[in-house]
Amino acid sequence: MPLRDVILGEGAQVFQPELVNLYQCSIGAGSRVGPFVEIQRGVVVGANCKVSSHSFLCEGVELEDGVFIGHGVMFTNDRYPAAVNPDGALKGNADWALERTLVKARANIGSGATILPGVVIGEGALVGAGAVVVADVPDHAVVVGNPARVIGDTRDKDAQ
Ligand SMILES: CC(C)(COP(=O)(O)OP(=O)(O)OC[C@H]1O[C@@H](n2cnc3c(N)ncnc32)[C@H](O)[C@@H]1OP(=O)(O)O)[C@@H](O)C(=O)NCCC(=O)NCCS
Repeated sequence: MPLRDVILGEGAQVFQPELVNLYQCSIGAGSRVGPFVEIQRGVVVGANCKVSSHSFLCEGVELEDGVFIGHGVMFTNDRYPAAVNPDGALKGNADWALERTLVKARANIGSGATILPGVVIGEGALVGAGAVVVADVPDHAVVVGNPARVIGDTRDKDAQ
């Protein structure tokens, strides 16, 4: 089932629901979700967000209102991923620590960005295409590169 136990706010739209994997998450009023997106349990997407095709929002991610997620954006929640424990047994739910990520209101994340676990992306910030975000992004900052560094302020563009 492409949508399981999803709370959809008023007017929220999942385009091509047969091509997504959304479960036990909530999508705020007026938000849009594109095809080939996976949104895991417990994720909260605010109102009037756009999540573009092929993006992955893992458990622990919260998007405030008005957030834009480009194509193929990868969130992560396990800083030290591993398939097995030292004894070779497959890791289970108790064998790793989830780190939460918050994307604040009206922040925008460019296509192909990877967001490392446990960061806060500031209000109105802009993450460039392909950036690897390893630390908190200040409000209104423009960041690019790997690791992502601040190169500007979105308010300068808005003022033009
Ligand atoms: C980050 C971004 C907003 C910067 O745009 P801009 O303000 O017009 O910046 P410029 O193109 O003038 O580039 C400024 C500098 O940053 C570099 N740069 C720009 N975008 C970059 C990126 N994504 N990754 C690495 N470096 C980048 C430029 O090479 C330039 O470097 P220089 O000063 O050494 O020459 C834009 O390049 C970007 O990545 N937008 C996201 C696009 C996207 O993913 N859209 C999704 C929906 S299709």
